[in-house]
Amino acid sequence: MFSNPDLLHFIFGRLTLDSIPMLHEPIVAVTFAAVVVGGLVVVGALTYFRLWGYLWNEWVTSIDHKKIGIMYIILAIVMLLRGFADALMMRAQQAIAFGDSAGYLPPDHYDQIFTAHGVIMIFFVAMPLVTGLMNFVVPLQIGARDVAFPFLNNFSFWMTTCGAVLVMISLFLGAFAKTGWLAYPPLSDIVYSPGVGVDYYIWALQIAGVGTLLSGVNLIVTIVKMRAPGMSMMKMPVFTWTSLCTNILIVAAFPVLTAVLVLLGLDRYAGTNFFTNDLGGNAMMYINLIWIWGHPEVYILI
Ligand code: HEM
Repeated sequence: MFSNPDLLHFIFGRLTLDSIPMLHEPIVAVTFAAVVVGGLVVVGALTYFRLWGYLWNEWVTSIDHKKIGIMYIILAIVMLLRGFADALMMRAQQAIAFGDSAGYLPPDHYDQIFTAHGVIMIFFVAMPLVTGLMNFVVPLQIGARDVAFPFLNNFSFWMTTCGAVLVMISLFLGAFAKTGWLAYPPLSDIVYSPGVGVDYYIWALQIAGVGTLLSGVNLIVTIVKMRAPGMSMMKMPVFTWTSLCTNILIVAAFPVLTAVLVLLGLDRYAGTNFFTNDLGGNAMMYINLIWIWGHPEVYILI
C-alpha cells in the first residue's frame, strides 16, 4: 500500500535520525548517558528489592488522595531538579558569554533552555506542588474519606505526569520550543518554528492542562458536597476556603488555555490563520487569550 518512504513517514511523521540531537551535541550526549545510567540503576534497584508490585499496586494505581498528593509533590521535586539545572545552565552561560566569548551554549540551545525552564517551573513544579498539597489536605480538613472522584484523581495525576514526560523526552528526541514559556505567535507559527519544539509544547501543556482542569472539578465537588455533617461553609478551615477559590479559578481559566492551544495547533497543522500576521489573523488575539488564562494562573499559584 505504501512505498517505503511513505511508510516511514506514516509511522514516524517528521521523526528522523537527525531528530536525535545527541548525535551532534556533546552536552546532550553526556546528559543522555547520565540519564541512561541513572535509569538503569533505578530499574535495577527496583528489581533487586522486588518493589515493582508494591509500586504498581500501592502507588501507581492508587486512588488514595494522600498517596496521589504525595506523588504530585514527588513529581514537582523531580521537575524542580530539571528546572534548576536549566537555571544553572542559563546563569553559567550569562556569566561566561561577554566580550568576545560566545559562551558554551549555542543560541539555539539557550532558547530551548529558558523556554523549558519557564514551562517546567510553572506547569510541572508550582502546579503539582499546589495540587498535591490540596489533594493531601482538603479531604482530611473537611472529614471526607477521599475526594469526590478518586479514580479521576489518579487519572488527572497521570495526565500531568505525561505532560512532564513529553517535555523530558524532547530533550533527547527532537527539540523543545524556542519561543519563551508562553509561545507567542507569530514566532510559534509553523513559518517561524517549523521544527517539533512547539508541537511538544502544545501537547505537553494540553495534556497537563486538561489533567489540572479535571482535578479542579474534583476538588470543587469534594468541598461543596462532601463536608462532614455540621461543617457549614463558614466553619470550613481557611486552607479549604483557599483551595475552593483556587479551584474555581482553575475551572474558569484552564478551558481558555485548552482553547488557545487548539487554535495554535490548527494554525500549525491545518493552515488556519487565527494568529498569523495576514489573511485576517491577529497575533494579539493569542496574547490576550493566553493571558486570560495566565493572569488567573498567577493567583492560582500564589
Ligand atoms: C532556582 C533559581 C532560579 C534561577 C537561577 C532562575 C533563572 C532564570 C533566568 C536566568 C531566566 C531568564 C532566561 C532568559 O530570558 O535568558 C529565567 C526565566 C524564567 N524563570 Fe527562572 N530561575 C529560577 C527559579 C524559577 C522558579 C522557581 C520559577 C517559577 C516557579 C521560574 C520561572 C521562570 C519563568 C516563567 C521564566 C521566563 C521564561 C521565558 O522567558 O520563557 N524560575 N529564570
